[in-house]
Amino acid sequence: MERRREDKQVAVVGLGKIGLALAAVIAENGFDVIGADINPHVVSLVNEGTSHVKNEPGLDELVKKNHQNKRLRATYKTVEAVKDADVIIVIVPVLIDDNHQTDYRYMDLAVNEIGKSIQKGALVIFETTVPVGDTRNRFGKKIEELSGLVAGQDFDLAYSPERVYSNRIVEDLANYPKVMGAINEGGLQRTVSFYHKALKCETMSVSSLETAEFSKVAECVYRDVNIALVNELAKFASEKGVLINEVIEASNSQPFSHLHKPGIGVGGHCIPIYPFFFINKGLEKGLTTLAREINDSMSHYGIGRLEHELGILTGKNILILGLSFRENVKEVTKSTALLLMEQLVQKGANVFVNDPQFSKEEIARFAVTPLSLSDESVKKIDGVIVQAFHQQYEGLDFAIFSRCKVVLDGRNVLNKEKISSLGMKYLGIGIE
Ligand SMILES: NC(=O)c1ccc[n+]([C@@H]2O[C@H](COP(=O)([O-])OP(=O)(O)OC[C@H]3O[C@@H](n4cnc5c(N)ncnc54)[C@H](O)[C@@H]3O)[C@@H](O)[C@H]2O)c1
Repeated sequence: MERRREDKQVAVVGLGKIGLALAAVIAENGFDVIGADINPHVVSLVNEGTSHVKNEPGLDELVKKNHQNKRLRATYKTVEAVKDADVIIVIVPVLIDDNHQTDYRYMDLAVNEIGKSIQKGALVIFETTVPVGDTRNRFGKKIEELSGLVAGQDFDLAYSPERVYSNRIVEDLANYPKVMGAINEGGLQRTVSFYHKALKCETMSVSSLETAEFSKVAECVYRDVNIALVNELAKFASEKGVLINEVIEASNSQPFSHLHKPGIGVGGHCIPIYPFFFINKGLEKGLTTLAREINDSMSHYGIGRLEHELGILTGKNILILGLSFRENVKEVTKSTALLLMEQLVQKGANVFVNDPQFSKEEIARFAVTPLSLSDESVKKIDGVIVQAFHQQYEGLDFAIFSRCKVVLDGRNVLNKEKISSLGMKYLGIGIE
């Protein structure tokens, strides 16, 4: 395919948690990067050299430095970022709605803008986790239709999933091999060569766009199914008086066993969402569907155990520690805290929530009572649920909950003996 020049200018469409980190690292590695985001607040901050994403080691410095040396800037007009770009990376979310149907709202908008402004010779790489076949059949086709260009002939089209983990995104960008597939061999070689320079990471080429798309969803399904399995085993272990944490350690001492950790639920915008990308495309009802049901039922299981200890929950004061879907992140998408809150409210409990990552106002928006751990009201709490064990909870003295009768440790992180010594009943997941 004819190219104007070496790949030099990069547009990153979507400057969220992942997009901003990608943009900053690519700029740091010598490319000219323009990020595009529909959120004007994000754009202004980046243009001041400030990261809007917090708790990502190294990101603040990278954004500041590359803004100063003029290799990183932002616009809210995607067309502007794309029109001169040699490489266009797309990292805006594809979600599911309340009925588990795929929600393309953000991605379709981005793809339309790219279709209107892409130049002949550009390379478009989708990094967002997507249903299998979408890069070619939905996004690629739309770009062809709007631009009049032909994928694989006038522009290159590739897919390379993002596999990073929150709180260590910058480090992870170079940590795992970057899986990539493209519409043809030329496009694949170009994509490999780009990522070697732009992220300085190892690459793993696969034979098609669809293989690369499939591999990312498969990773998420694997984790969901694994957690569902260990949740099932945890419940059974507790019936048998066996400690699940000990079982996991023992079983995993052999290299073919990789049992994950049991818990009160699986949240976030990956694991609980992406299995539906397979299910919606016709995956036969089986383990994947069942795993979703098992993991979502863990909050019922937890509340059932709480009820067993406390009696009817109507009028009881229950505190949830951790609104975030997991520890040390500020992110509520599909958080198990939401399921717990809904069920507790239905049962007539007074629901209190503490989360050091969120302000009181942010917590109050969920129609629950925010509770500071230094507030006198901690003394009236009847039961505590550990949902996300943020680092601020390490060393927390549960004696402050002087009236509390039961602690449900939804992440199996507390010391059972310590809790019991305070006269409180300790309940873990799979641990009595
Ligand atoms: N966050 C993670 O831990 C993680 C891990 C692996 C993969 N991913 C993948 O990365 C994707 C993005 O995740 P994120 O955490 O960066 O999301 P995010 O919600 O933090 O950011 C998305 C950004 O895209 C912007 N946006 C939405 N529509 C747009 C459009 N049409 N044009 C331009 N910008 C638009 C939003 O304003 C927002 O700033 C996910 O959907 C997922 O597929 C995320």
